[in-house]
Amino acid sequence: METKQKYVLALDLGTTGNRAIIFDRNGEVVGQSYGELTQYYPQPGWLEHDPMEIWHDTRSCMEQVLRSTDVAPSEIAATGLTVQRETCLLWDKTTGKPLHRAIVWQDRRTAHYCLELTKKGYAEKIQNSTGLVLDAYFSASKLSWLLDWVKQNQPEMNLDHVLAGTIDTWILWNLTGRRVHSTDHSNASRTMLMNLATQQWDAELLDLFGIPVHLMPEIRPSLGDFGAIDAEILGTEIPVRSVFGDQQAALYAHGCNQKGMLKCTYGTGCFLISQSGQELTRSKHQLLSTVAWSEANGGQPVTNYALEGAMFTTGACIQWLRDGMKLIKSAPETETLARQVKDTDGVYFVPALSGLGAPHWDMNARGAFLGITGGVQREHMVRAVLESIAYQVKEVVDAMNKDSDTPISLLKVDGGASQNNFLMEFQADVLGIPVERPAILDATAQGAAFGAGLAVGFWNDYDELVAKRKRDRSFIPSKNQQQAQDQFSIWQKAVGRAKNWMD
Ligand code: G3P
Repeated sequence: METKQKYVLALDLGTTGNRAIIFDRNGEVVGQSYGELTQYYPQPGWLEHDPMEIWHDTRSCMEQVLRSTDVAPSEIAATGLTVQRETCLLWDKTTGKPLHRAIVWQDRRTAHYCLELTKKGYAEKIQNSTGLVLDAYFSASKLSWLLDWVKQNQPEMNLDHVLAGTIDTWILWNLTGRRVHSTDHSNASRTMLMNLATQQWDAELLDLFGIPVHLMPEIRPSLGDFGAIDAEILGTEIPVRSVFGDQQAALYAHGCNQKGMLKCTYGTGCFLISQSGQELTRSKHQLLSTVAWSEANGGQPVTNYALEGAMFTTGACIQWLRDGMKLIKSAPETETLARQVKDTDGVYFVPALSGLGAPHWDMNARGAFLGITGGVQREHMVRAVLESIAYQVKEVVDAMNKDSDTPISLLKVDGGASQNNFLMEFQADVLGIPVERPAILDATAQGAAFGAGLAVGFWNDYDELVAKRKRDRSFIPSKNQQQAQDQFSIWQKAVGRAKNWMD
């Protein structure tokens, strides 16, 4: 390794925004640049992103972070890429232009189609092959919808010119000067098109969803060679040596490489993931089996699997309070407001703004406030929203505990919404176990950086790197835990009311 290379660059392209972060040899953040991403809601339950905006923001975040830290591109040893998962698009490889906006993972436009497939008896085959619950959350039905849209609206389009991909694939293709059309096993495992046993695209599923295989990217190990950022972009080539789904990247950053080690990321949604080692584990309680990450290992790829509880709306609810309801001006204000009241005054919120994920898997559930009386004020409603996030996590922790012999005794957290001390205190109370928060909350970016830096020998020891991560704070269950746990039972009744709302 050349000594002039002092840094690793991580690109963390999430649902609400895109970020570039530079890490030094100690794994510390040297600087970062962030841009919020426009959310398009063309119809109720639909959500789209502009792929060109994601690409332009990625470029400008890279340029800005280099400028603000005074780091030269030649000082970057490698880049790691981590992205919001499942969100997918089609583009024309001859023009480089997307054929439609990307359909975001939260989008429910294909719920009806998925329910039809369930009625036709495909759910079991899909779960066996992919480890996933048949749901509009995953990419397969979205890609199918996009292809139908292209056939109807652009009948002259030659499908030989079309490429498909999740956000990692789209950005990688652009970063590498249109040379690399690839994804990694962790992102591919979220498309509902990858067979977990063969680690390749499943021909039967591609056929079922009407997706020609030549549109699909090559699947590579998460920690491996993804080409290089083209010299035209930053003035010098920079190798891309890791690609992860964002939730799996956070698992990697937390050092969860042994069976049973887990973390929960509080981002746009909440994702509780438990490492299951090199053996594929299946849940009996509505959790997903998925790929944690894979390593190139000199041509003999080694895959680690995971169990996951995906909850769709967490930070998204706070964003909705800010941008939709205009009840708050900023996310941190939720903590101040929640502390101004002693409880929610009997109000419960069901955070089903995009249906419900684990353990309900109800695409037709919708958000609801229940228990409103004349005395209810905005502070109560804001507090109810925060509490609902913790209740969702409790449901998934309970499901994980039922699937395992050893109950969870500590919850490691990260992600933007974990900054909220009220939420973390309430989380510890409702779970009745400690919650541990690291100093760097951007574990997703950190995981991508660790992976890329280790792959090029910038760092040599994963365990040492993980051990150096600093803890910020532990939240211990308080005297209010019984009350929180009692309220959880009432909240579950509220969830029952909001389910199947659109049926
Ligand atoms: O599965 C969706 C997930 O990857 C989104 O992550 O960080 O954008 O909430 P985030």
